[in-house]
Amino acid sequence: MKRIGVLGSGKGSNFGALAEAAREGKLPVKIALALTDVPGAGILDLAAKYRIPADYVPPGAFRTKLSPEAEREYARRLKEAGVELVALAGFMRMLKPPFLEAFPDAVMNIHPSLLPAFPGLESWKQALDYGVRFAGCTVHFVTPEMDAGPIIAQAVVPVLPHDTPYTLHARIQAQEHKLYVECVKLWAEGRLRVEGRTVAVSA
Ligand code: GAR
Repeated sequence: MKRIGVLGSGKGSNFGALAEAAREGKLPVKIALALTDVPGAGILDLAAKYRIPADYVPPGAFRTKLSPEAEREYARRLKEAGVELVALAGFMRMLKPPFLEAFPDAVMNIHPSLLPAFPGLESWKQALDYGVRFAGCTVHFVTPEMDAGPIIAQAVVPVLPHDTPYTLHARIQAQEHKLYVECVKLWAEGRLRVEGRTVAVSA
């Protein structure tokens, strides 16, 4: 079975969805390691629940990226665990070329908007403030440019008249949990091929 690693900074609901699908046999991967840059992140408790090895690895002095030393340590730990795909699940730091080159076409991210609209932070709030009628989420391969890599799949949700940032994000997250499992499954089945800007999905 293919081995994946998950990086997360937040409550870890996407990690939980992947772990649950793997446990139920619906996702043919072994989650070999979960790492976080935030002490006490939800992902650590969830990992304990699913008996997945997990650790807090200090990110270094920067706010939006890992320090070069920290990034090397993340890559080393993932390689040591035999990881072939790194799934970012609410990991709020940019990854740089040395890390991405260690996992070519094998770092995936889930983003809470219909990219290329609303990259960056709190995308559901950006969507609400902009007044769009539809929002959603995107799973893509990670490149050095933020939220701009080849798109694997997207899911759409309506924006409803009385939505708050909280209710819209909750509706998006319900879709994220399904979409991320589907995309990691496609990767595990060897059905994704990056062709320049786009991703070909074979039957
Ligand atoms: C998710 O909505 C994910 O799309 C978003 O953070 C949330 C993490 O939730 N990621 C980004 O904004 C990345 N730029 P989770 O910790 O419950 O999975």
